[in-house]
Amino acid sequence: MDVILIAAITMDGYIARHHHEVIDWSEDLRLFKQQTLGYPVIMGSNTFDCLQKVLIGREIIVVHRNDNTKAILDEIKSEKCFIAGGGKTNFRFAPHLTHLYLTTHPLIFGKGIPLFDGKIKELKLELENVKPIVKEKGVYQFQYRAD
Ligand SMILES: NC(=O)c1ccc[n+]([C@@H]2O[C@H](COP(=O)([O-])OP(=O)(O)OC[C@H]3O[C@@H](n4cnc5c(N)ncnc54)[C@H](OP(=O)(O)O)[C@@H]3O)[C@@H](O)[C@H]2O)c1
Repeated sequence: MDVILIAAITMDGYIARHHHEVIDWSEDLRLFKQQTLGYPVIMGSNTFDCLQKVLIGREIIVVHRNDNTKAILDEIKSEKCFIAGGGKTNFRFAPHLTHLYLTTHPLIFGKGIPLFDGKIKELKLELENVKPIVKEKGVYQFQYRAD
């Protein structure tokens, strides 16, 4: 099964200013919907609490600190699923990732929640596709395979 991390990131690698920020700066919400529709979407409890609306057409799996990441993935019967943050959840699922879909935004936060909130092992990424979202602002989704 493909396990795809999907995130909107700043140019300095942050996904939020703090643990409870409602993300209103992401320019790829339409693409996020298109790509995740019909597939399980895994997210942490902080991210779930920050959602502004219900994500319809997708099974949302909210993870908590005592959940076993491998057991969650083993339960899924689908060709792919998405890991949709936040930083702590991305960190916990990092060993299982097959792909990363990262959308760059012209922002620098300087501090905040990093893409992976924890120490992970080095990942080698192979660029598979680039989707322009708002070209003139440098907002592109980079689709990588992780080995
Ligand atoms: N830019 C983007 O694409 C993007 C995407 C997603 C989210 N975000 C933002 O990221 C932020 C949330 O990220 P986050 O990293 O704070 O949260 P998160 O990953 O969404 O949720 C926190 C996770 O960590 C666990 N946890 C909390 N305290 C812990 C502890 N002391 N020890 C071990 N596990 C613990 C929680 O379990 P319990 O439920 O048991 O507490 C939960 O599973 C929000 O602002 C959200 O809007 C941005």
